[in-house]
Amino acid sequence: MFLRSCYTAVMEIAELVSRSRSYRRFNAAIQIEETTLKELIALVRAAPSAANRQPLKYMLSCAPDSNRRIFETLAWAAYLRDWPGPTPDERPAAYIVVLLDTGLAKEADVDVGIAAQTILLGATARGLGGCMFGAVRREELASRLRLPGHLTIALVIALGTPVEHVVMEDLPANRSIEYYRTPDGTHHVPKRSVDELIHSICAG
Ligand SMILES: Cc1cc2nc3c(=O)[nH]c(=O)nc-3n(C[C@H](O)[C@H](O)[C@H](O)COP(=O)(O)O)c2cc1C
Repeated sequence: MFLRSCYTAVMEIAELVSRSRSYRRFNAAIQIEETTLKELIALVRAAPSAANRQPLKYMLSCAPDSNRRIFETLAWAAYLRDWPGPTPDERPAAYIVVLLDTGLAKEADVDVGIAAQTILLGATARGLGGCMFGAVRREELASRLRLPGHLTIALVIALGTPVEHVVMEDLPANRSIEYYRTPDGTHHVPKRSVDELIHSICAG
């Protein structure tokens, strides 16, 4: 019985991870409540943190004005060179700005990655989706959000109800890792094979 429930859990986590793609087009008419954002931060609270410093703080946004202030500082999908980013009716309904409290740690890149993926998995489990943004005009956003000097912007996570179809696939013959869109709007994400990811297996 225990083994069977573990197997089910493995299946569920595989599905959750594979559904948790980067989404960049949303139904802007469907809002995200502040309570949902707080639930995602409650998930992050349970995540590991180097030396248990827990130096990350989060700014939550689900109101039109703050959403607009954040949206304007993000760079969308660098490989989709002809796409200027989502139209107003496909913009994210909410954002979580991941902040590093430099009074608690000088850097926390691994914590940031764990936190961001935990948030996106939690969002996926709730029927939402999102995208992490490293390409952020940080100085401008810090000033727009009136951040105190000891908080620096690590990452921005956009969230909403996805309206795009995203598929993972093997690398094409030319080995390009660039994601692309086909005319039907499907977003394709090439992934290296498992064999390519495993450098070697230690023998004994
Ligand atoms: C640290 C990090 C920073 C990212 N920054 C951006 C970004 O600035 N803009 C963007 O459109 N996507 C960004 N992405 C999303 C990646 O492009 C995406 O993860 C990649 O294309 C693979 O797609 P997948 O997440 O669906 O597997 C970022 C992802 C990570 C992990």
